[in-house]
Amino acid sequence: MLSKAFTARAHTNIALIKYWGKKDQELILPMNSSLSLTLDHFYTDTEVYFDQALKQDVFYLNEEKQNVSKVTQFMNIVRRQAGLKVFAHISSTNHVPTMAGLASSASAYAALAMAASQAAGLQLSRRDLSRLARRGSGSACRSIYGGFVEWQRGHDDQSSFASPIEENTNWNICMIAVVIDKARKKISSRLGMQRVVETSPFYTAWMKSTERDLAAIKEAIKKRDLKKVGTIAEENAMKMHALNMSAHPHFSYFEPASIAVMHLVELLRSEGICCYYTLDAGPNVKILCSVEDSTRILDRLAARFDKEQLLVARPGPGVHLINKK
Ligand code: ADP
Ligand code: DP6
Ligand code: CO
Repeated sequence: MLSKAFTARAHTNIALIKYWGKKDQELILPMNSSLSLTLDHFYTDTEVYFDQALKQDVFYLNEEKQNVSKVTQFMNIVRRQAGLKVFAHISSTNHVPTMAGLASSASAYAALAMAASQAAGLQLSRRDLSRLARRGSGSACRSIYGGFVEWQRGHDDQSSFASPIEENTNWNICMIAVVIDKARKKISSRLGMQRVVETSPFYTAWMKSTERDLAAIKEAIKKRDLKKVGTIAEENAMKMHALNMSAHPHFSYFEPASIAVMHLVELLRSEGICCYYTLDAGPNVKILCSVEDSTRILDRLAARFDKEQLLVARPGPGVHLINKK
């Protein structure tokens, strides 16, 4: 017997205020609250159906069969919630490089949360979907919503979820992703942040200053103040990367080309163009700017990078079903 198949599409999100550290590894409760922008250009489509004939979950990513351990752990949470004992067939396509610091885990687990819960017969509210997605990957709880999204850290499984700040933002902003390297990162986000929490002497300072950054950026978003939003986001990202360099053993996601892009953004700023950078757990740089300025910035980047390495994303939508069979 097969259940109905459900396919969900979730877009990635890039944090302007970073989530970097867990206080509970099992429940994925973060040390600090965070804030992100969901992007239209990058997304994951995931189809799920349950099949009584299966002896274990089957998981295909980009048409290749994968080891199921992490996905099965997640599916066990769905099965427990639905009172199901049947395994599932999961097939996912990433329209985003996998594990390259472009937030594939965010779109992946948001899409899986929606497709799997629907196939299991659960009708979850968006808040409960956000809580479920969080169990797969912290950043995924924010991809349930479109536009600007805040993840309030909360203090337990019930209270830690994301909420939309402006779902359908009409702000004319975009993010240029400079894809320096599509390869999988050497240190996963999970491992990187854990090492930082355990060993960086600056961690307490990070938490305090991130709380201030979060309050300030929310005000600046309300006022459509790109200069302020960009400055806070750029500084917050650099504080996160400083934590990595202060860990033991220390590490960094920067590549020489990442630094070159950061310098170029600073140069463009000195020429009067309002643009700011942010980097996640990978070498790729994301540049926040107005749609109006994006062509000039792209022209300058084109001197150094191929067209295929320069992707322009606009605010994107929350998770949704794309078909019902
Ligand atoms: P990223 O920067 O891409 O978010 P992470 O270090 O957070 O990278 O790790 C990505 C994790 O998400 C890996 O465990 C990877 O196998 C998993 N993942 C990526 N895409 C999918 C998908 N479509 N379905 C399920 N898991 C996925
Ligand atoms: C740097 O959500 O990928 O992108 O919860 O361990 O799966 P896990 O980590 P993940 O970490 C994202 C870290 C970040 C910042 C952010 O997205 O807030
Ligand atoms: Co991730």
